[in-house]
Amino acid sequence: MTQHQRLLIVDFGSQVTQLIARRLRELNVFCEIRPFNKVTDAALRADPPRAVILSGGPASVTEADSPRAPQAVFEIGVPVLGICYGQQTMMQQLGGHVESGHHREFGRAFVQPAEGHRREGLFRGLFETGREEVWMSHGDRVTRLAPGFEVIGTSANAPFAIVGDAARHFYAVQFHPEVHHTPNGRILLENFVRLAGFAGDWTMASYRDEAVAKIRAQVGDRRVICGLSGGVDSSVAAVLIHEAIGDQLTCVFVDHGLLRLNEAEEVVTMFRDHYNIPLIHADESELFLGALEGVSDPEVKRKTIGRLFIDVFQREAARIEGAEFLAQGTLYPDVIESVSFSGGPSVTIKSHHNVGGLPEKMGLKLVEPLRELFKDEVRALGRELGLPDSFIGRHPFPGPGLAIRCPGEITREKLEILRRADAVYIDQIRKHGLYDEIWQAFVAILPVRTVGVMGDGRTYDFACSLRAVTSVDGMTADYYPFTHDFLGETATRIINEVRGINRVMYDITSKPPGTIEME
Ligand code: XMP
Repeated sequence: MTQHQRLLIVDFGSQVTQLIARRLRELNVFCEIRPFNKVTDAALRADPPRAVILSGGPASVTEADSPRAPQAVFEIGVPVLGICYGQQTMMQQLGGHVESGHHREFGRAFVQPAEGHRREGLFRGLFETGREEVWMSHGDRVTRLAPGFEVIGTSANAPFAIVGDAARHFYAVQFHPEVHHTPNGRILLENFVRLAGFAGDWTMASYRDEAVAKIRAQVGDRRVICGLSGGVDSSVAAVLIHEAIGDQLTCVFVDHGLLRLNEAEEVVTMFRDHYNIPLIHADESELFLGALEGVSDPEVKRKTIGRLFIDVFQREAARIEGAEFLAQGTLYPDVIESVSFSGGPSVTIKSHHNVGGLPEKMGLKLVEPLRELFKDEVRALGRELGLPDSFIGRHPFPGPGLAIRCPGEITREKLEILRRADAVYIDQIRKHGLYDEIWQAFVAILPVRTVGVMGDGRTYDFACSLRAVTSVDGMTADYYPFTHDFLGETATRIINEVRGINRVMYDITSKPPGTIEME
């Protein structure tokens, strides 16, 4: 457990709960998100957080069996902020009244301080122009305040837009201060944590020191193995663990022959030569490419790669004497138990490749030093540990590698062409200073040959497609709007520099309905 002052976010299932945590982390406040039904009165009393935020959510407090905050939230003497659904359940639970239905409000609204309320306390630094733009999204509304509360902010349609009981530091807002569309929402959250007495002591330097101490305490003098993919998460985890326990860490890098140009060498050079981390480089391209011969179904490809990966990893790990721990780059979004109201399993679009299930099978305990971090915090930690920016800012690369960028049958010839085309494309993007603006960019080689003319001769070569997307989390994505000049120049370079390709397309599908990768 962290030593930091902790803020607890009770999650009622809003789509934007994670953003509350993001905003708080930006304020150097450590916070945890827990589903409403996993927080007990007893736990709150035994280990009280310094403050609580109640999130929004899709339910209606007027419905029977709708979620409630544990009553202890209001009894342990800490500041509480209710947001949207959080406001409504707070009012209901403390003796106010909420009505549903007849008035729905979505989108932009403006709030202003209620009469007699000055720009101090929760409102410090706000209302410079007399009002603040906010983002509303609710169907229900508070119709009677709980005892002790007063209205401190209103909007045209929401007489109870902001309510508060300053004596107890209980506040509640009908809008969402955590989203971008509430431009000064961050100031409101900052005021709340200041009133709650947070020191703002959550920094990457302190996280690094604590994580190192924690790893040492957990591992003692035993050995850890870490699967290295060359991606940011496993790399940062490896460097951090190495800082903690030195040569007690061994990394296993399974090279499936589906990596980009020079990628294997770069990973090995960086970890073995630069960081001096003991590294096993298992070159298994023959094994993987052999098993994939003649396979063109995307799910069969993914499952074959996943299965072989685990086999190889297990075999290599077994050679490391005395290994008792497996390190994984698990991030906080993977850990948060999301609140599901539908309860049904979601449809599998693609079988993702990971090492899940391995630790139990191998009898290993887990070391997961990034469990409390979001992706951009992992990057910040990487910088803190001295990993080069060029490495930290790399676009995501999928576990099954180039296999899913080569629709249809995979051949060595296609992979070689794909590697070279991809290198030219990424070089173009870097030269034009666009790399950091794009979330992910790559080439896919299409399973068709087309006719072209080069010099005086006919060509009959592969077509490829370029992909570049903007995204926040990979769940949704938009294609990147390159200029025609850029696209033209890139197509010319690929065709001139990469033998085997004579036609270039630009993929302008968004996600949904497409996915980012081809398969
Ligand atoms: P899709 O293609 O599903 O991809 O829109 C979303 C993001 O996930 C990456 N991706 C994977 N990452 N193992 C991974 O580690 C996988 O099996 C895998 N499949 C897709 C993809 O590159 C994109 O960033």
